[in-house]
Amino acid sequence: MDIIFHEKSKEFHLFNDKLSYIIKILKNGQLGHLYYGKRIRDKSSFAYHMEWRARSLGACVFSDNPAFSLQYTRQEYPSYGTTDFHYSAFEIMQENGSIISDFKYVSHEICDGKKSLMGLPATYVESACEAKTLEITLYDSVSATELVLSWSVFDQYSAITRNARFMQKGSQMIILKNAMSVSVDMPDGDFEMVHLAGAWGRERHICKKPVDQGVQSIYSLRGASSAEHNPFIALKRPSANEFSGEAYGFSLVYSGNFLAQAELDTHGMTRVQMGIHPKTFSWQLNQGEIFQTPETVMVYSCEGLNGMSQVYHRLYRNRLMRGAWRDRVRPILINNWETTEANFTEDRLLRIAQTGKELGLELFVLDDGWFGFRDNDQTSLGDWYVKNFEKLPSGTNGLSEKIESMGMKFGLWIEPEMVSKDSDLYRAHPDWIISTPDRFASPSRNQHVLDFSRKEVVDYIYGLISKLLCEAKISYIKWDMNRYITECYSSGLPPERQGEVFHRYILGVYSLYERLTSEFPDVLFESCASGGARSDPGMLYYAPQTWTSDNTDAAERIKIQYGTSLVYPISSMGAHVSDVPNQQVGRMTPIETRANVACFGLFGYELNLNALGEEEKEKIKRQVAFVKEHRELIMSGDFVRLKSPFSDNEAAWMVVSIDRKEALVGYYRFLNYANKGMKWLRLAGLTETQPYRINGSDVIFYGDELIHAGMVLRDEDLTGVGTDFASVVYHLKAAE
Ligand code: DGJ
Repeated sequence: MDIIFHEKSKEFHLFNDKLSYIIKILKNGQLGHLYYGKRIRDKSSFAYHMEWRARSLGACVFSDNPAFSLQYTRQEYPSYGTTDFHYSAFEIMQENGSIISDFKYVSHEICDGKKSLMGLPATYVESACEAKTLEITLYDSVSATELVLSWSVFDQYSAITRNARFMQKGSQMIILKNAMSVSVDMPDGDFEMVHLAGAWGRERHICKKPVDQGVQSIYSLRGASSAEHNPFIALKRPSANEFSGEAYGFSLVYSGNFLAQAELDTHGMTRVQMGIHPKTFSWQLNQGEIFQTPETVMVYSCEGLNGMSQVYHRLYRNRLMRGAWRDRVRPILINNWETTEANFTEDRLLRIAQTGKELGLELFVLDDGWFGFRDNDQTSLGDWYVKNFEKLPSGTNGLSEKIESMGMKFGLWIEPEMVSKDSDLYRAHPDWIISTPDRFASPSRNQHVLDFSRKEVVDYIYGLISKLLCEAKISYIKWDMNRYITECYSSGLPPERQGEVFHRYILGVYSLYERLTSEFPDVLFESCASGGARSDPGMLYYAPQTWTSDNTDAAERIKIQYGTSLVYPISSMGAHVSDVPNQQVGRMTPIETRANVACFGLFGYELNLNALGEEEKEKIKRQVAFVKEHRELIMSGDFVRLKSPFSDNEAAWMVVSIDRKEALVGYYRFLNYANKGMKWLRLAGLTETQPYRINGSDVIFYGDELIHAGMVLRDEDLTGVGTDFASVVYHLKAAE
């Protein structure tokens, strides 16, 4: 890995073993883009990859050079309104009403390592030799604004991160109306755009569309990254598949409103942009003030989508997630939500925990309903203390001690960003919700969003939650968020700063996470937002696991977990075995299949353990023992998608250890059918010359056979054979 500056040609070449990224300081002082893709050998100039040609209707940067027009020049961080008519990467409104700017190169710095971003989550290094960073400082003399663009290239990951930082140097006040995290001009339009779309209970399904002339975009304007779209897109070559071909991933480390788009222009250039959504954003900068964009993580793969995903998985697992739990195997939990909802007594909870303990479970999680007078979703959010002593006679403190004395850990659900109108908190501070003066405040799930753009609100909630964590024996927190933001307005900000509320809100959420996770480093945090409505890299920086979806049906979960794995490691995906008929879709699936899906994630149960017969309890004991035996591999191995549930009646995936000596392979068949033919499943990621045993058998299979001829799928291996939703998990181990 290195970053080389060629003084004469004024070109920067960032590269590692896998990728190259080349930038040029143009004649007008702005930054041009020469190349992004597979690693190429360095040389003194690649300037001829840029075409200078006069075209009709082209506006020119220099009066004596009709060939120099930004419209036809690939750029790094383009502006609008001079000679480029595409979407720009930023927009600065100046005091005279102009939005024209002209940022020219001033200086640059190349350093080892990678800087942190003020108050924002970002990938990091643990030693300076893991990455190199280029910072280029540009300046617009009319608005007196400084712009620092930053690129970091990792040594061990085929990834480059980018961000931008604006600083107002002059005395005039400027308003940033748009500040993307990244803009990349690709030289052609031969791409498909892959993204993750969905809804509550149907999060992150894989979608694909051709990149066509014009703009194709995905976005969130909901105040959270959302269940509808994830802050991720990939541009892949149409011929690229899971295992081969080029794929360029763009993943935004951010949890709020975002925009990601690909604009293919008439000359075949594709401009990819990603950042905070400009529609709900503006930011005032007075002299000396700074605005920092979130980070975008760009991954290049010439080994298809699996190749791209594996880079994201490793990078996010090792250098985005943090804290004591990053590398630790996670406890197998039992959560009471689908069993009791808010209707429980301490006695009932203790009985669930006791049975859980007997079955080998390690963590009991008390979900919604333990605080205030919370017997339904109409009340008490914000009152994070026990008032109903009939329900919990010894409070969370007493309950946690009883659970601990059983030999289990205790976890608790909270929803710190929300308030019910029926709460002490709302009665004391009705002005603390996000709402617009003189307008109706639209409820959602009977609740309102606390104004986390205000420090005093965050401080107050911090006080309550930290007291809770100090007093009770809490090992795990499920941090939920169950509504989007409407009537966005903060009474804590002046009218001209209302465009800042959405972003300040997310900064407030991050600051609370930062305070709580650093003060309670041994507590395991799981983020949640009605399931997976805020399942993004920003959250992973604070909470190393996410509740993937409220939809716990095994068949639906295959799609959700398969889609989520495009970017996120399976070691971040909460996945539970729940009751049948399934609460969300009413489907019956065998308990083996429910476990065979959930074990490719962070395993747990969310069903009434006390309603199970002895046979099912025995099955659960075996499932728990299986997960305990293999969770190290599931946490740290490479996950490979083998067969897509989006295109077939079957799905398959596997996780293979980094040393390639061990693997788990999951195969799932949705609907049963008569008179089947013989089936093979081609595996991946194994060492071709290595002999393996499958499920401890005497027969030896070499890696090359399993990869190229495939593993024979015997119908009788499948659990629930003769039924729908049959499945099997095979264990492969290197033979001595
Ligand atoms: C939504 C979550 O996704 C569920 O798991 C559960 O915690 C409920 N909220 C509780 O209100």
